[in-house]
Amino acid sequence: MTAPDLAFAPIHPDGPALSRFVWGAWRLAEADYANDPGAVASVIEELVTLGVTSIDHADIYGGYTCEALFGAAIKARPSLRDAIQIVTKTDIALISPNRPDHLVKHYDTSRDHILASVDRSLANLSVDYIDLLLLHRPDPLMDADETAGALSAVRAAGKVGHIGVSNFTPSQMALLQSRLDSPLVTNQIELSALHLDPLHDGTLDYLQQHRMRPMIWSPLAGADLLTGTSERHKAVRDVMEGMLEETGAETIVQLALAFILRHPSKPLPILGSMKMDRLRSMIAAERITLTRQQWFSIWQASAGREVP
Ligand SMILES: NC(=O)c1ccc[n+]([C@@H]2O[C@H](COP(=O)([O-])OP(=O)(O)OC[C@H]3O[C@@H](n4cnc5c(N)ncnc54)[C@H](OP(=O)(O)O)[C@@H]3O)[C@@H](O)[C@H]2O)c1
Repeated sequence: MTAPDLAFAPIHPDGPALSRFVWGAWRLAEADYANDPGAVASVIEELVTLGVTSIDHADIYGGYTCEALFGAAIKARPSLRDAIQIVTKTDIALISPNRPDHLVKHYDTSRDHILASVDRSLANLSVDYIDLLLLHRPDPLMDADETAGALSAVRAAGKVGHIGVSNFTPSQMALLQSRLDSPLVTNQIELSALHLDPLHDGTLDYLQQHRMRPMIWSPLAGADLLTGTSERHKAVRDVMEGMLEETGAETIVQLALAFILRHPSKPLPILGSMKMDRLRSMIAAERITLTRQQWFSIWQASAGREVP
């Protein structure tokens, strides 16, 4: 099974090739097919044929259950492994019946936690390597030497191909990078027509400077863009609806994605829908290129003011 070549691009000069759109497994446990490994495998297979070959996980998704739901599908159809790239994350520790020793929600970038978490993810996902491992959130107690040592160790052991971060500031990235012997290849961040901060707080500047392509979570603000009832939500939707005809977009969902794709850092949006018809429609956003003025119209509706 092969995906269209155009769907691939390295996310960093020394990083892995990921598909332009990534499928997010955060909500997999909520899908009506979640407990049917054959059905999950069929969804993955169809995504691969559409060119969506990269899958975003985290150990904690579904209260520590989503990786195993996905792994059951890989076990059911092992040929899928070589057709996909698996991203997963470590360091958030949830209060969960699956982790009775967690008394308070916290972050853990210690060596012991990273090594144990990677081994658990490999077992749950039913794979023998993870293409890309991300630190999920910046940990105020991160000892950069210890954390970098653990990340280098899982790479050296062949358990992880590449290392990245999520929700990190530029200075947090620079600190970790200063102790690593391989490049951080991405920062997975929240960006959408309703979440503009990374455009202006230096996050995207740093990524472009270091030729790292960002992975983008909640590109629809977790559907808030479609269902939010505030004046701001309505203003953003109104501007997008007024733009449908001139852009050739079928839906404002496609415009929300086109708003992200227009950024010169070449972001990779992570699609969070569990419904194949919606995913198919979202992928079609790739052919829409917003003009500067269209892009700034969306920005202005969201910010509630024109640029200075
Ligand atoms: N690194 C981090 O800290 C972090 C944080 C959050 C998420 N993530 C990653 O980012 C991924 C995407 O986040 P997200 O799920 O919040 O993404 P999103 O695309 O902003 O939201 C997806 C949600 O929108 C719903 N939706 C409603 N109408 C839709 C439509 N017309 N088209 C598409 N979706 C529609 C989907 O429901 P249906 O399933 O019913 O379509 C789904 O619940 C996650 O799966 C996860 O991998 C990472």
